[in-house]
Amino acid sequence: MAKEYKRYLVTSALPYANGPVHIGHLAGVYIPSDIYTRYLRLRGADVISVCGSDEHGVPITIKARKEGVTPQQIVDRYHSIIKSSFERLGIAFDIYSRTSSPTHRTTASDFFRKLYDEGKFIEKTSMQYYDEDTQTFLADRYIVGTCPHCGNDRAYGDQCEKCGSTLSPDELIDPHSAVSGSVPVKRETKHWYLPLDRYEPFLRDWILESHREWRSNVYGQCKSWIDMGLQPRAVSRDLDWGIPVPVEGAEGKVLYVWFDAPIGYISATKDLTPDWQKYWCSDDTKMVHFIGKDNIVFHCIVFPSMLKAHGGFVLPDNVPANEFLNLEGDKISTSRNWAVWLHEYLDDFPGKEDVLRYVLCANAPETKDNDFTWKDFQSRNNSELVAVLGNFVNRALVLTKKYYDGAVPACGQLTDYDRQTLDEVAQIRASLERNIETYHFREALKDAMTYARIGNKYLADTEPWKVVKTDHERVKTILNIALQLTADLSIAIEPFMPFSAAKIVKMLDIKPLNWDLLGSETLIEAGHRIGEPELLFEKIEDDAIQRQLDKLEAARAANAAAEAANNVTEQKETVSFDDFQRMDIRVSTILAAEKVAKTKKLLKLTIDTGIDKRTIVSGIAEHYTPEELVGRQILVLVNLAPREIKGITSNGMILMAEDATGRLVLLQPEQGVNSGAMIG
Ligand code: MF3
Ligand code: ZN
Repeated sequence: MAKEYKRYLVTSALPYANGPVHIGHLAGVYIPSDIYTRYLRLRGADVISVCGSDEHGVPITIKARKEGVTPQQIVDRYHSIIKSSFERLGIAFDIYSRTSSPTHRTTASDFFRKLYDEGKFIEKTSMQYYDEDTQTFLADRYIVGTCPHCGNDRAYGDQCEKCGSTLSPDELIDPHSAVSGSVPVKRETKHWYLPLDRYEPFLRDWILESHREWRSNVYGQCKSWIDMGLQPRAVSRDLDWGIPVPVEGAEGKVLYVWFDAPIGYISATKDLTPDWQKYWCSDDTKMVHFIGKDNIVFHCIVFPSMLKAHGGFVLPDNVPANEFLNLEGDKISTSRNWAVWLHEYLDDFPGKEDVLRYVLCANAPETKDNDFTWKDFQSRNNSELVAVLGNFVNRALVLTKKYYDGAVPACGQLTDYDRQTLDEVAQIRASLERNIETYHFREALKDAMTYARIGNKYLADTEPWKVVKTDHERVKTILNIALQLTADLSIAIEPFMPFSAAKIVKMLDIKPLNWDLLGSETLIEAGHRIGEPELLFEKIEDDAIQRQLDKLEAARAANAAAEAANNVTEQKETVSFDDFQRMDIRVSTILAAEKVAKTKKLLKLTIDTGIDKRTIVSGIAEHYTPEELVGRQILVLVNLAPREIKGITSNGMILMAEDATGRLVLLQPEQGVNSGAMIG
């Protein structure tokens, strides 16, 4: 049932401070939440948008260990990168806080303590994996193994990233420590559990009955979790990074990151305003959680159960979770550096914040996974932003400058075509509002762009640049209508492209934006003098796109190399000492080298084996030039049976190894040795 709400509380998933933000995060969470919030602000609603860094959890400690720094250093670094890149993109949170803040520590700790005191947890001792080398319990991402569902051999103790299954360490096949690589033992440990099963009736009623309007991906996931039967979930961990469990006898234990992080929304609100309870503790607040699909269970099942257990807090009215955005056909991955990083984009494309916002919204993975490609980015910029939006606004302004010295001309008599155009325009607002309010941001963006499409077509059809030679009165009406549309655009696009909206406002020299004025005739009045026109967008050329593709290509190559380095071929069958003794390997010197005609890979080498001078044909032409080789000492298997290669008899084999990129490298003695010296 539609409820009357007095205020809005918008939350955006707190990004982990173990890496910068990429386009997947933006398209999934932060662009949608920003559009929604900006829209509500323009409407004059009482709305706050809160976010912050999620600074606890295992991935952060693992990263710190890898780099040999403290977890605090890691989160400090990424918190500031993330915070400033959000600001630069115009993501206008009312507060961007962090879960290592003192407010948060107290809030989360008190929250736990209240539930503990009221007997809302189960205390349970169980056997868990323990790494004796590093003396740590292995929960979550500290333990890796093979996924029982898809066979991925790099599944984590909490999740398989390949097939998306939620896992527990006990389900992993061949588990080993992600910290030391060693095979863990089992050890007894005590933890606190939130018995989710007790909240099943509440969840059924609240979600399955009362929130049938939620997106089908969200509703469906909730239903399947509930139908599978909810289990008690541990809310503590044996770790030294996090918020200490605030009870006696809990030394060395901290709150599970997924227990403390969502409470971060509350602490962020506290950091923002002393009036925080107005938002969190009244029924007439509409709370909306913007998240990605991997966060659904935590925001729809776990956190609401926590809030319910605590009592006195509002529950989310909606959780419009998005699916995932891929990049050039592959899953975005922080560890594989397969991503477009926001801070890098902002440096590479200064002044093009709105282009990214536009493309990520136009292509947002609202109902299914979607793909971001640089070609699509370029073509949306060139053929939509430049050719439609920018072109229309520019023509309206430049013509007004040119014909009327920048004074908005009055609207005269309307033609049928004018009326038809204005009727079409009048339809847009309701659709735009409905789409934003129901979280259909792609459609909403199309609606906003419709003002520009109609305007563009209107100018093309009415051709004021021709009419001006014969009928000035007509041109005045045309430009008046075009300027009204431009003013409408400044409001309609603001939630999506705030920088461009602000530019239009400045160029028109009109008052700050207010949604109620959208479509009203008083937006820009006859006689008002507009400011200086400037271009809203510029064409993006192929070379800028190519640079981005090259960057990705480099990441792909680095991954392939790392992969190759990991893929060590298994040991061959055992050979006897005698078998080994039969191979005659000698230090030899290369005397001459030349390319074998009509081949790419082969070199004909003349070598001194110490026994004789002979010819060997070797497939190293792509890795060494003949000049590089002459004079070098190498290792040669000299008693290999002769082979005919391209009509040349090859007498022996040069020993080489392949590096991670597939390049062959020669083996040579660590210091000069006489040719003919035997290896063994
Ligand atoms: N850090 C989590 C992630 O990136 C999201 C945390 S959302 C919160 O998946 F609600 F827990 F804060
Ligand atoms: Zn799997």
